[in-house]
Amino acid sequence: MTSPLTIIVVGATGDLARRKLFPALFACFARGQLPPDVRFIGLARTALTDAAFRERLAENLKCDELEAGVCSMKAGEFLQRCHYRRCEYDSTADFTSAEGWLVGLEGGKRVNRVVYLAVPPFVFGQTARAMAQTGFLPRGDQEPWTRLVVEKPFGRDRASYDELQRTLADVCREEQTFRIDHYLGKEVVQNLLVLRFANAIFEPLWCREHVHHVHIAWSETQGVAGRAGYFDRYGIIRDVMQNHLMQILSLVAMERPAHLESEAIRDAKVSVLQNMPPLDLANLVVGQYVRSATAEKAVAGYLEEEGVPAGSITPTYAAAVLHVNTPRWKGVPFLLTAGKGLRRSITEVRLHFREVAAPLFQEGIAGLPHGSGVNELIIRVQPDEKLSLRIVSKKPGVGMQLGNTELDLRFREKYPDVRIADAYENLLLDVVRGDRSLFIRGDELAAAWDVFTPVLQRLEAQAIRPAPYAFGGSAPVALDALAARYYIPDAQVIDQDNLREQKQQTLGGGHV
Ligand SMILES: NC(=O)c1ccc[n+]([C@@H]2O[C@H](COP(=O)([O-])OP(=O)(O)OC[C@H]3O[C@@H](n4cnc5c(N)ncnc54)[C@H](OP(=O)(O)O)[C@@H]3O)[C@@H](O)[C@H]2O)c1
Repeated sequence: MTSPLTIIVVGATGDLARRKLFPALFACFARGQLPPDVRFIGLARTALTDAAFRERLAENLKCDELEAGVCSMKAGEFLQRCHYRRCEYDSTADFTSAEGWLVGLEGGKRVNRVVYLAVPPFVFGQTARAMAQTGFLPRGDQEPWTRLVVEKPFGRDRASYDELQRTLADVCREEQTFRIDHYLGKEVVQNLLVLRFANAIFEPLWCREHVHHVHIAWSETQGVAGRAGYFDRYGIIRDVMQNHLMQILSLVAMERPAHLESEAIRDAKVSVLQNMPPLDLANLVVGQYVRSATAEKAVAGYLEEEGVPAGSITPTYAAAVLHVNTPRWKGVPFLLTAGKGLRRSITEVRLHFREVAAPLFQEGIAGLPHGSGVNELIIRVQPDEKLSLRIVSKKPGVGMQLGNTELDLRFREKYPDVRIADAYENLLLDVVRGDRSLFIRGDELAAAWDVFTPVLQRLEAQAIRPAPYAFGGSAPVALDALAARYYIPDAQVIDQDNLREQKQQTLGGGHV
């Protein structure tokens, strides 16, 4: 981490670069986590001076833990190291001249480089090829190295993924390629390995004998405003489920890796994905948000959003039941739900344990519906990261009234002085360190596409209309029917629980 370094963001005028990448680079820089000799380069087609580029970046730089004076001094230092150059993504002439300019900034000798492809996915291939043809992206991982970070989506299906993969394989080696899924950089997701393999109590329970089902849920209050062009081509299954949720699923379901080296972890993850049969259309519910009749302020439905083609059948919501055919998980449904325009923004994993086989406490006397309560391990990825275990406990007082309560570890309460880093900060530092554990290997993506490609093709071939659901409300009711087929008692529970929690906090009450 001491060798000179250049970090190049291709597509530097874009949303991701502005909102996420440069703020994350600044946070790492301000904390002294990058080499002293580091510079940050923006490349894109828009004509901008360095000054104009820096002005754009300055708006989004913030440092939570530094005192204001130090923060603005660091921001000034950071911006002085930011440079911008206009570049057409498919132009070998532009990359050749950018290369000469860059070596000049690097003091006349090429240094280690990270190249971050933050351009729309259909530009990935041509950009990578133009960079490779001009020596901007040399093949090989010897010093000074060049590492290529590629953003999702990695194709639209197995065939387009294979094509992208061939292009990337032509231009750089697998060891140079960092396929990013920022969910893997999130604190609680990283904690999954620790939770599972550093605590003896969970291992015996982490299997089909004890787990009734696993629910991995992602929801967002926003619609697609501003990104409709991209979203309509991909839809929620490709945008969220095939990548973020499948990555979380593989960490939840994997066997213990042989050691903590990145290849061992990725071997364990890919084995989960390769043991999953393709998703059956009968196990899928798709929805699309419509104008909400009840929202205080009228909110447009998906089809009314600017940039969405008339009559689009792109799903903004999906619920899928998947299976992992390993001895540990055979028969356990994994319910994955993902939706935009819902009531809450939340990402959570719940392991729902089986009921007590022969309840001792009787319904009525105990106050619980079946004489036994719900045991759940809840792993909240965002917001307000937490781990909690839902257990049954006697309510204090006279008599034998039972109730569900939670043993709670809320990271922000437990560690008030520790700043939880943004996922992009963690992952960018890993690229610089050369640690690929939290990046997706090619075969993981291929296996994840094999699970979803057939159903995506059927959805499109049969032009299946998504079920409508009101913007700002709950998931489509069809979710309950799908869940009921697998005896999943209440698939909307995550929404209801979190709403209850939100109300308690608003009223000033603590959580149980
Ligand atoms: N935004 C996010 O939160 C987010 C999250 C996860 C993944 N990603 C992925 O990250 C990548 C970048 O996302 P983004 O939201 O930053 O994209 P973006 O803002 O739409 O595009 C990035 C830059 O690419 C150039 N560009 C836009 N349309 C183009 C076109 N038709 N042809 C050639 N260049 C074009 C533009 O720069 P110039 O016109 O100046 O060249 C733009 O500033 C995408 O692959 C996206 O899927 C984004």
